Amino acid sequence: MSSISPQQLAVVVSEAISAISAATTGDELKQVRTQFVADGSPISLINATLRDVPVDEKAEAGKIVGQARGEINSAFAAREAVILQAEEHVRLLAESVDVTAVPSRRRVGARHPLNLLMEEMSNIFVGMGWEVAEGPELENEWFNFDALNFDEDHPARAMQDTFFVEPVDRHLVLRTHTSPVQIRSLLSRELPVYVVAPGRVYRTDELDATHTPVFHQMEGIAIDKGLTMAHLKGTLEHLARAMFGDGAKIRLRPNYFPFTEPSAELDIWHPTFRGGARWIEWGGCGMVNPNVLRAAGIDPEEYQGFAFGMGIERTLMFRNDVADMHDMVEGDVRFSQQFGMVI
Ligand code: DAH
Repeated sequence: MSSISPQQLAVVVSEAISAISAATTGDELKQVRTQFVADGSPISLINATLRDVPVDEKAEAGKIVGQARGEINSAFAAREAVILQAEEHVRLLAESVDVTAVPSRRRVGARHPLNLLMEEMSNIFVGMGWEVAEGPELENEWFNFDALNFDEDHPARAMQDTFFVEPVDRHLVLRTHTSPVQIRSLLSRELPVYVVAPGRVYRTDELDATHTPVFHQMEGIAIDKGLTMAHLKGTLEHLARAMFGDGAKIRLRPNYFPFTEPSAELDIWHPTFRGGARWIEWGGCGMVNPNVLRAAGIDPEEYQGFAFGMGIERTLMFRNDVADMHDMVEGDVRFSQQFGMVI
């Protein structure tokens, strides 16, 4: 028979509690549990001696041992809660994401100002109900010249202006202008036709400040019943104002193109030109030559219309004050970024 000493119990409890409160991590608390709380710890050994306590002391001994265990267990539970919470806090901090942080984006480039300009011009026509058409850059000589009423010996056909593609007897050229899209549009569409065709063209020029062998044009053709030069003028005037402001106007000067009759040189009054408002040569235009309509199988007695064409590089140069063609062809993204369309 043995009895349980309250003093011994108090020592065990206070040792356990001080060990519990000294633990600062989950791992330390685990060790404390093995040493002071679990089976084999002093308090559980004392608990085991209860069965040897004389019957008349049993109730009292059971009570004080129970209280002692209760104190240890609740100290342990309280400490465990504190440590778990602290550890969770640290973990959450480590996992936290700043949703307001500005991501570091890689710049992928900028749209080329020539493309933007062609799109802007096309949109002005789309706003008037026109359609946008495309044609191949590797073009049949017939579309590029013959159907457009160029003579067999027209100087534009000369080798020094046109890139002919070998073998020459296939009669393929790199299109020298966007005008062949006139014929393609007339052949492939129902009348009336109102079409603009922006695109790339080629000529055997050397690259310098004002020339490039690869450049862009915007073609327009309108074929309907009863179209006159007044419609041509009104359309180009609208284009000029939409692009250069209300102060813009246009002027037509007689000229010659095989595919229009009469033909005119198109000048624009550029009201905000850097060196002061002035007239600038912009492109060519005219009433579509009846021979062109016939080449597309259209009766010129029934349908008439007008056409025009202008250079895009040239337009960008005088509209945005670009002095050197090299800037447009070299593909330096800093040039494109100046025009504000960064992606
Ligand atoms: N194709 C001509 C050129 O490259 C420009 C042009 C002039 C187009 C008059 C036209 C036009 O449609 O009517 O110089």
